Amino acid sequence: MNIAILPGDGIGPEIMAEAVRVLEVLDIRYESETALVGGAAYAAHGHPLPEATLKVAQSADAVLFGAVGDWKYDTLERALRPEQAILGLRRNLQLFANFRPAICHPQLTHASSLKPELVAGLDILIVRELTGDIYFGQPRGRRVSPDGAFAGQPEAFDTMRYSRPEIERIAHVAFQAARKRSKRVTSVDKANVLETFQFWRDVVTEVHADYPDVALDHLYVDNAAMQLVKAPKAFDVIVTGNMFGDILSDEAAMLTGSIGMLPSASLNAENRGLYEPSHGSAPDIAGKNIANPLATILSLAMMLRFSLNQPEAALRIEAAVTKVLESGLRTSDIWSEGTQRVGTREMGSAVVAAVKSA
Ligand code: IPM
Ligand code: MG
Repeated sequence: MNIAILPGDGIGPEIMAEAVRVLEVLDIRYESETALVGGAAYAAHGHPLPEATLKVAQSADAVLFGAVGDWKYDTLERALRPEQAILGLRRNLQLFANFRPAICHPQLTHASSLKPELVAGLDILIVRELTGDIYFGQPRGRRVSPDGAFAGQPEAFDTMRYSRPEIERIAHVAFQAARKRSKRVTSVDKANVLETFQFWRDVVTEVHADYPDVALDHLYVDNAAMQLVKAPKAFDVIVTGNMFGDILSDEAAMLTGSIGMLPSASLNAENRGLYEPSHGSAPDIAGKNIANPLATILSLAMMLRFSLNQPEAALRIEAAVTKVLESGLRTSDIWSEGTQRVGTREMGSAVVAAVKSA
């Protein structure tokens, strides 16, 4: 097993360090290579996704990714911004299927901004298409000047597009995921306004014919955003395009109380994948030992299950995280009255100890 480790920017290196400590105590044999990515790679090599980093990712069985982005790179032209690293990895490795679970851990029900009864037991899986849509259409309009201005250009646009095979394959992924859960899929689109998403709705409906045992319904994205805060437990699997998935997955993550708890997986057709916490690089809290490493540690568990065929190791990590939460330890983002506040490192150590004793 060959694992690429890409810590990235902001809190990325801190949370990754804790995940790597957990990986080290699992008694599994692996090789790993660490590489710079995002702003850190730009600072060292002038590009957010240097050729060498891409090679490390391409030759690995799976990639563990921290987070990228920092305000200090906001004025760079788009092609050099840290975010291009993750977009480039998704495109190059053809990671079209993004799994973003939003699970409310029973110990954290009170961390949600919604009433506890609305979120207790919440378990949603967002399946986001990750390599198409307006993210990968034709952009026009470039920030060319160093201060980030559009240098007098009269307009800018991006094109939204989806091909039939792109929609078909993500629909299959969603229906198959639903078969292992409660057999319900909600497809989210904007078919009332956008041709691209009328097409999406039609193709998802066609693919559904192969899955008569799974229930399918369709929602417009604005309504879906509303229903998610009104009655989130009505959802099970949500399948949607790249941009709507970006937005709804942040919303769903926050329902659970802390985006700092949520892992994600981005897979290609061969189940090779990239695993990363659902949150970003949080430069405001970088280097302070307060970030929550659990999303990254749980992403490692997803990696072991989906790409490395080590389901027992994945369960061990997940059980360890539950045990640590039960013991009352909390990083600041999930802290509440009566629990014990700990830092990034202490949380990592607690998970390591729990994994060892399992
Ligand atoms: C995400 C992030 C990325 C996205 C950014 C960093 C490019 O917001 O993974 O959700 O928009 O996909
Ligand atoms: Mg996002």
